[in-house]
Amino acid sequence: MKKLFAFLISVSFYIVASAQGALQFDSNAGVKSSIVVYDGTKVDFMAYERLFYVTNVEDSVYRFLNVYVPEGATQKTPIFLRTYVGGYMASPAAQPQAGDATGRALKEGYVVVIPGSRGRNSAIVADKAYAKAHKGVKEGQTIYTGRAPQAILDLKAAIRYLRHFDKDMLGNAECIITDGTSAGGAMSALMGATGNNPEYADLLKDMGAADERDDVFASVCYCPIIDLEHADIAYEWLFQQTDSRQDLDDLHKGYTQALAALFPAYIESLRLRKSDGTMLTGDNYLDYIKNEIIRSAQIAKNAGADIPDSLGFSFSNSAGGMFAAPINGGMRPQMQGGQLPQGMRPVRGGRMGSRQVGEYITDLDMKKYLNYVVSTQTLKGVPAFDSQIEDINRASGENDLFGDWSGNSVNYTDFTAKKNNATLTDAIRQNVKLMNPMSFIDDSKTTIAPHWYIRHGARDRDTAFPVPVNFATKLQNAGKNVNFLLAWNRPHSGDYALDELFEWIALICK
Ligand code: DHB
Repeated sequence: MKKLFAFLISVSFYIVASAQGALQFDSNAGVKSSIVVYDGTKVDFMAYERLFYVTNVEDSVYRFLNVYVPEGATQKTPIFLRTYVGGYMASPAAQPQAGDATGRALKEGYVVVIPGSRGRNSAIVADKAYAKAHKGVKEGQTIYTGRAPQAILDLKAAIRYLRHFDKDMLGNAECIITDGTSAGGAMSALMGATGNNPEYADLLKDMGAADERDDVFASVCYCPIIDLEHADIAYEWLFQQTDSRQDLDDLHKGYTQALAALFPAYIESLRLRKSDGTMLTGDNYLDYIKNEIIRSAQIAKNAGADIPDSLGFSFSNSAGGMFAAPINGGMRPQMQGGQLPQGMRPVRGGRMGSRQVGEYITDLDMKKYLNYVVSTQTLKGVPAFDSQIEDINRASGENDLFGDWSGNSVNYTDFTAKKNNATLTDAIRQNVKLMNPMSFIDDSKTTIAPHWYIRHGARDRDTAFPVPVNFATKLQNAGKNVNFLLAWNRPHSGDYALDELFEWIALICK
């Protein structure tokens, strides 16, 4: 229903070939406005809206950005660019929200930019002129405009627009911080990890994007749904140990086992290194994840969270319990992504949960922990992402994403394509590459953002832990400044622990 509604909106507002000609920005066209943010502060700002970032506007519903300049901003003020992409769907340019990172960014004095972008559901109805200009298209036909890789092209065009008018607009286009959640986290990751790569150049030129650089200064990625062509492998490798994967029918259990078996070779192909220089392999990888979960839980515990041993944790015997020194050690609760969700707040009276335990988490039974994760939300099916197997599984949003303008849904992994006796075309393979921030980190023709803030909930099951962990590790191995955490007890969500995020932003912008 939601999908149909979004589709109708995009079609009904279609205006043929508007905004042709040169890109425009009028610094006198700002409109005075204000917002009252979470703590009651009123922030005055100038709003510049509907700024088309391409000259070849095929779909005028999405292809513009909005800029909000708070009072006091200068040419040097960093720009906070928030994409509201979710589910790989189209996302209109929006206004700042009092309760999320955009309102907070305005309060902190940053220029806020909210671009629209097309997505897997955006569509137009071809008029006569469109049909004439596009071979094989009939007048009246529905054209899906935002299939891969259009969303990232739109967002790159938005960045180029900001550079193009950097001198005319307050805010510093050399200091853009991107932010997004889930598929939007993937977009933020792509903006950060594909800067200026020539594989996007011709596509951007065809759209009428400004002839400018499109690298950014920093990327904030909450639960990024990335590495789609390996996400099924990672998912089954991790979750095969849960009870829920034992209850499958033989066919799907077979898929689980076959996908999981591909994981060691995949990990080893990445040649990722731990901080001590050791190579990550199929043998040591589960411990790597386990240590990340323990690190997360320990940070939360230090901040006062009750970490129940029923989740699989073991604790040291010493220095804990009722008579121990205060456990907080001076750390504020919101530090390190450790802001405590409901239900994980400190227990009154200083007692640590259901039994007295030591100061340190010493081990974790991963099977028990993963069963806990699954108990909070049912897993996706098998395969989790490239799920379209004829007569057995339904298509996922990702199958739609890699379809084409006709609105079809296609396979995009070798594994699932083989089940359908389908072959992956070079065009699909290239689109998969262009949608994966992992593809370009080792490419010397890419300008990668120097600063990264990556969060994935420690009980998020929308993609498996190896996906964000590999991404963060790859960026660390490339020498980037990476602040990564599997945020304690967080489900699939974003824009949390904003005190911590904006402390980090202030630090990197100094
Ligand atoms: C999103 C969530 C998913 O589970 C997924 O596969 C793709 C996108 C999202 O929330 O954006």
